[in-house]
Amino acid sequence: MASPDSLTLTRPDDWHLHLRDGAALAAVLPHTAAQFARAIVMPNLKPPVTTAAQALTYRERILAARPKEGPGSGFAPLMTLYLTDNTPPDEIRRAKDAGVVALKLYPAGATTNSDAGVTDLRKCYRTLEAMQREGLLFLVHGEVTDPDIDLFDREAVFVERQMIPLRRDFPELKVVFEHITTREGAQYVAEAGRFTAATVTPQHLLYNRNAIFTGGLRPHYYCLPVLKSEEHRLALVAAVASGSDRFFLGTDSAPHAAQFKEHAAGHAGCYTALSALELYAEAFEAAGALDKLEAFASFHGPDFYGLPRNTGTVTLRRENWTLPETVPFGDATLKPLRGGETLRWRLVN
Ligand code: DOR
Ligand code: ZN
Repeated sequence: MASPDSLTLTRPDDWHLHLRDGAALAAVLPHTAAQFARAIVMPNLKPPVTTAAQALTYRERILAARPKEGPGSGFAPLMTLYLTDNTPPDEIRRAKDAGVVALKLYPAGATTNSDAGVTDLRKCYRTLEAMQREGLLFLVHGEVTDPDIDLFDREAVFVERQMIPLRRDFPELKVVFEHITTREGAQYVAEAGRFTAATVTPQHLLYNRNAIFTGGLRPHYYCLPVLKSEEHRLALVAAVASGSDRFFLGTDSAPHAAQFKEHAAGHAGCYTALSALELYAEAFEAAGALDKLEAFASFHGPDFYGLPRNTGTVTLRRENWTLPETVPFGDATLKPLRGGETLRWRLVN
């Protein structure tokens, strides 16, 4: 079957996004707002967003950073809280009243700004009970942090040690296994029942770990969970190409100033917000699954969260164009993934 030259999709959402704050927020928000109607905003600021009151003021700063006109002006942030060992169960009611939709689990030390993260999930059980009762989702960074576990095995070990007991103890808590990267993660989610879903990033669909080491060390391909081997990439592609409604779009776009990416201890995160849909279209086309892109990008996420699907559409056109190598980022610069390279699809708004 010939591939189409243009694709019109119901306006999509990004179910996993890092927006930061201040000048960084102002620099990146228009990119996401041009592509997506809504986004789940990650709470790993410094200090993290741990209370409903903080989420409300962060939301106001995001709304103030929106473009004043055009398609991005109606962008709606969906707020989350950062779960700590000490999040009181009472905070869940306040969060719900404030419109917060989810809490995020960062195992302590797993990734960027995760020092305040959870040291032992059992300390959070009363809070998880409140979430299950109130219908707030639990968004999970699914990697163990035990230094004895090889970096590439941390997700598979998380499934065994954390996900299986969590599912057993909270069968009706809606859990999103964020940015899955492995065959084990994809298989677990596919079989876990209707209260479990996963987000998948564009970089984990397009690249395996060779991308980090090709022709020199390539820090812009470094994110956490780290890219895995080809076997795992193929399992993720198969999961999204299957059309299963348990898998949906979450870019994990995570801006870091170029000088901190290209650094002796380079920061983790790929910046994809500028060209997210184009990258996903490339991945779905390579898998012969362009017909599955719309549901992945626009239906499965809101359906799982229990939110309405968007109205309106966006259109992608088959067109070669060069992604900018850098974009301004406050006083610094930001290097998008694939910056300076040719993309095959282009969003036309
Ligand atoms: O690569 C990542 N960057 N992974 C995360 O989990 C956090 C994110 C960030 O905030 O930079
Ligand atoms: Zn993230």
